[in-house]
Parts: sequence; structure tokens; C-alpha cells
Amino acid sequence: MWMNIDNYIELHSSEEPDLLKRLNRETHVQMVNPRMLSGHIQGRILKMISSMIQAKRVLELGTFTGYSALCLAEGIPDDGILHTIEINDELEEFTQGFFSQSPHGKKIKQHIGNALEIIHSLDETFDLVFIDADKREYLEYYQAVFNKVKKGGYILADNTLWDGKVIEAVDPNDKQTIGVMAFNEFVAKDKRVETVILPLRDGLTLIRKK
Ligand SMILES: C[S@@+](CC[C@H](N)C(=O)[O-])C[C@H]1O[C@@H](n2cnc3c(N)ncnc32)[C@H](O)[C@@H]1O
Repeated sequence: MWMNIDNYIELHSSEEPDLLKRLNRETHVQMVNPRMLSGHIQGRILKMISSMIQAKRVLELGTFTGYSALCLAEGIPDDGILHTIEINDELEEFTQGFFSQSPHGKKIKQHIGNALEIIHSLDETFDLVFIDADKREYLEYYQAVFNKVKKGGYILADNTLWDGKVIEAVDPNDKQTIGVMAFNEFVAKDKRVETVILPLRDGLTLIRKK
């Protein structure tokens, strides 16, 4: 049987839970940009990280169809909470439908609106923040959440290699690439944190607040 390395990794990692398989399929059938969904391996990594650091208070920026929210929530205890913020209110019905079918859905609090506004209204200190919304605003999200992350807590940021565009000549009109690069440069120099870009999928940055 022929397989590539991605197939091999999937076959030798924990299986994607059935509900998430369905969510993955339905997202591909019904949504315009299904590639935004985290997917099997990144989802298992998010679950692994939230359980590994014993996170109880988690914040996600950019819910989309709820795949990563369900993975992060899977790794937190029953008395934990995941706040997830999504600007597109048309996704809410779809996403809630899946949250309500999951045993982890009750740990998820969905907020609809602009992350940059909602973050300030959350009266919480987070063990973990997952940044996965608008690439043009990554640095603003980082600055907005920083004081809400506890000492020793973590920030994850997705798509930080942005299809390899971060090492190419930048088109000045490409605000997303410029946004991701500005974020990467700022975080790499930020003495308040330690950071590493994992070359996973489209790049997943792991940041620890000292
Ligand atoms: C890459 S998708 C998120 C994927 C999801 N985290 C997953 O892994 O399955 C990015 C989402 O961020 C949302 N978004 C963009 N700008 C936002 C903002 N300012 N506040 C909240 N959500 C935003 C988009 O509508 C989109 O659904």
C-alpha cells in the first residue's frame, strides 16, 4: 500500500474522534474555506497540550466551525472553561449544533463578535490562549491577551509560517503575510516569553510567559 508521511502520521497517532470526523466532513461540504479547520493531527496536538499543561481556563480567538475548540476543551477538566470568539455570526448555528452533541460542549462558552473588543470584557486569567483569527491582527491579539495570561501560561498561534510566505519577498499589499511576519518578529524579541515555532502544518508557535 502506498502512503505518504502524512498518512503514516495519521495512522500512527490517536484516532480522530467520530464527532470530529463528522464536523470535518460537514465543514468541507458546507463551508467556503474548509482548509481553515485545524484537522486530525493538529487537533490531537491541541488536545494533548491543553491536557499536558492541565489548563482550566482557555481562550480561543477564531472559532470557525468549532473543531479546535472541541479539541482544546477535550483536554480540560469538567470544571474548566474554554471561551472562544468568532466574528462571523452565520457560523453560530452550525457550531452550536456540534458543541451540543459533544460531552465537552458544556465547557465551551461561545462569544460572537470582534475578538479585539470581547477580550477586554473577559474577567479571567488564562492558562492557555490559542490565536487563530485574522492574520493581519495577530500582534494586536497578542498584546490584548498578554496581561490576561498567567505567569507560566502559554499562548499558541496558528499559521505562523503562512505557506512559507514569511521567507519570501513580501508584496506590500499582502497584509496577512505582513501581519504574520510582524507577529513572529515581535514575539522572537519579546524578553517576557520563551518561544518556538513548531514546523507543524502551517506553523504553530508555542509561547510560554516567563
Ligand atoms: C482559521 S479560522 C479558525 C479555525 C479554527 N480555530 C479551527 O482550527 O478549526 C479563523 C476564524 O477567525 C474568524 N475571525 C477573523 N477575524 C476575527 C476577529 N477579529 N474576531 C473574532 N474572530 C475573527 C474568522 O471568521 C474565521 O472563522
